[in-house]
Amino acid sequence: MSATDRRPVPLLDLKAQHARVRAEIDEAVVRVLASGAWIGGEDVRLLEREFADYCGAAHACAAANGTDALHVALRAYGVAPGDEVVTVANTFIATGEAILLAGARPVFVDVDPATHTMDPAKLEAAITPRTKVVLPVHLYGHPFDADAIGEIAARHGLPVLEDAAQAHGASWRGRRAGALGHAACFSFYPTKNLGACGDAGMVTSSDADFIARVRQIASHGAGTHRYDNVVLGTNSRLDSVQAAILRIKLRHLDRWNAERAERAAAYSRALEGTPGLVVPREREGARSAWHLYTVRVEGRDALAEHLRALGIGTAIHYPRPIHLQGSMAAAGGRPGDLPVSERLSREVLCLPFYAELPLEDVARVAGAVRAFCGARVAESV
Ligand SMILES: Cc1ncc(COP(=O)(O)O)c(C=O)c1O
Repeated sequence: MSATDRRPVPLLDLKAQHARVRAEIDEAVVRVLASGAWIGGEDVRLLEREFADYCGAAHACAAANGTDALHVALRAYGVAPGDEVVTVANTFIATGEAILLAGARPVFVDVDPATHTMDPAKLEAAITPRTKVVLPVHLYGHPFDADAIGEIAARHGLPVLEDAAQAHGASWRGRRAGALGHAACFSFYPTKNLGACGDAGMVTSSDADFIARVRQIASHGAGTHRYDNVVLGTNSRLDSVQAAILRIKLRHLDRWNAERAERAAAYSRALEGTPGLVVPREREGARSAWHLYTVRVEGRDALAEHLRALGIGTAIHYPRPIHLQGSMAAAGGRPGDLPVSERLSREVLCLPFYAELPLEDVARVAGAVRAFCGARVAESV
């Protein structure tokens, strides 16, 4: 084993990306601090415009984080106690949390095992007269089937709200996430494809009235005057420093996404045919933002432990589907409700992945995975 074979490979290296734009960011931060306008202002307004344009949506409203973006958007649809919101369970807890925080009940639909996103064939059966919104997730950056889901939702007169927290720059049949449903919610958490240096979020939509309602709820329900609070709102403002940083990073997003796609392709080439392992694939018509590179593998925990011992970082997104989380108990989920999501939670493993990941590290990780899976097969014969 050479010295490079023993070098740790982290799951993620945020400092590597920061180093590429550090000079630009330092300058912007100094500028905003000197301006004295630290919340809202010109940078937030320009980020909203530039991000809406990037997505192909007519409007956008910034929020303090992605969870707030979801919560405020659901409130803007008038979601309230007694309502249901149809979503998926193999997602980050925030998707379900936002529904419960709005007072509604999450109704979970199982996913397509190939894309890990909402299975359109199972959506219709989950819709009831109480359903207010359909909230699918572009998981790991792979877009959900926006045509099939959009058609079913439209037939029932329901809006589709995209959880696009992991999908900046993903597209479905040439249209970008953020413009695939009636509205979309993004997170700019630092690890996302477009990440702030802190918390930040955004709601996009081409419906001006809807974005006006989002803006009102995110600003304490204010009417035409700041101290005229006409609906129950909250404080979900975005810091100007984060907006200025995101504006800089947005200009690099397509290049960084292309670098992610290049690393995903290198992993898949090296891992294809590994016994007991399934590599992620883009469905026809889909362009993934490759937020994560997630394989499915038999004996996942043993492989993760083996890689850890070699200094290779991994993660499990997510170890428990959210219908089985204690905080979602009010939704009444039980083991066995969602067989595909539950099986995926036992099989998924995210390998080291970020735009700057050296290609030789991709080869090293893939080699370690292949060797482990191959040896396991040899032992079993
Ligand atoms: C699918 C999904 N939805 C919602 C969120 C919530 O975003 P935030 O962490 O910015 O609140 C995240 C990210 O963390 C996410 O991955």
